[in-house]
Amino acid sequence: MLDDPAALRAVDRSDMLHVLASLPEQVRQSAQAGARLQPRNRGPFKAVLFAAMGGSAMGADVAADWLARRAPLPCAVTREYDAPAWAGAGTLVVAVSYSGNTEETLACARAAKQRGAHVLAVTSGGELATWAEATGGDVVRVPAGLQPRAALGHLAFATLGALEAMGVGTVAKDAEGVAAHLERLRAQLGPESKEAQNPSKQLARALHRKVAFVYGAGPLAVAARRFATQVNENAKDLAHWGPIPEVHHNELSAWFADPRFRDLAVPVVLQGEAAGTPLGARERATVALMKEAGGKPWVLEAKGDTALARTFHAIYVGDYASLYLAVLLGRDPTPVDAIVKLKQRMAEFRRG
Ligand code: PA5
Repeated sequence: MLDDPAALRAVDRSDMLHVLASLPEQVRQSAQAGARLQPRNRGPFKAVLFAAMGGSAMGADVAADWLARRAPLPCAVTREYDAPAWAGAGTLVVAVSYSGNTEETLACARAAKQRGAHVLAVTSGGELATWAEATGGDVVRVPAGLQPRAALGHLAFATLGALEAMGVGTVAKDAEGVAAHLERLRAQLGPESKEAQNPSKQLARALHRKVAFVYGAGPLAVAARRFATQVNENAKDLAHWGPIPEVHHNELSAWFADPRFRDLAVPVVLQGEAAGTPLGARERATVALMKEAGGKPWVLEAKGDTALARTFHAIYVGDYASLYLAVLLGRDPTPVDAIVKLKQRMAEFRRG
């Protein structure tokens, strides 16, 4: 089925597979668009707070992880209505919302702005763009018309490019490396590549009618979260993720206790750190212990010259796998009716 183009098209009715193929181009285009920003405020900033939800928050996570490893200033991601008390004068608030209409993101950015923070909005438009422009903030626009989660390349790299324009980090070379790496990977993961050689199709097959438990260390924790959320939204299936090393201090115990888990769940371990490092040793120990517990761990080897390239390698394998899983389950990946319904209920709540 996964090697039959007609069968893929019959389920993937809005052609999310085609959109996913554009990830390398998104990375290049939006890194450049972000870097062209002429900021109204160049800081210097004392801290960076990312405010975002859902698919857009994955873009924030990628940018925040990159920044935390490169730039000598504190940064955090918040998925809340309110901004932490420290976010005020001297803070750069990066509000990432694809639609520009997400109430939690807007409320968080407004709260920080009221306390003196500067706002950078990364969005395709909506209320966020209008408000940020009208109140002295900076705005980087990404192309409209996509699902937020399908715009990850735009959101993450428009953010990183704009941060570079504001004097916070320099990402241009890394972005080109990521785009080139993803271009090479696309041929192996895309629909034309047969299941026998296609790691994403094989992973989808392994997860069919199971629950994925995705584990990633360091920067790959972002890719682990992304994979679980892509399974949720594209395949409309349950999935769980956890960061290494934290899961070594709690969740690991559960794999040894109850044999039911071995039938229900598939551990997916992202591996990208060098074997001689503590995190690399932990990745390998995770796989070994899962096997000892009687499980069948799936090892996703994330390759690439930089941490960012390895993160996007794992993201690309996982994104394609989530779409193939959707096809196996007969679920159109694009619509997210439950999320739309919830947003409608909240609009009714606001109207009273
Ligand atoms: O993937 C989705 O559609 C959601 O997770 C959205 O990203 C989330 O609801 C937030 O919306 P937005 O990305 O427009 O801020």
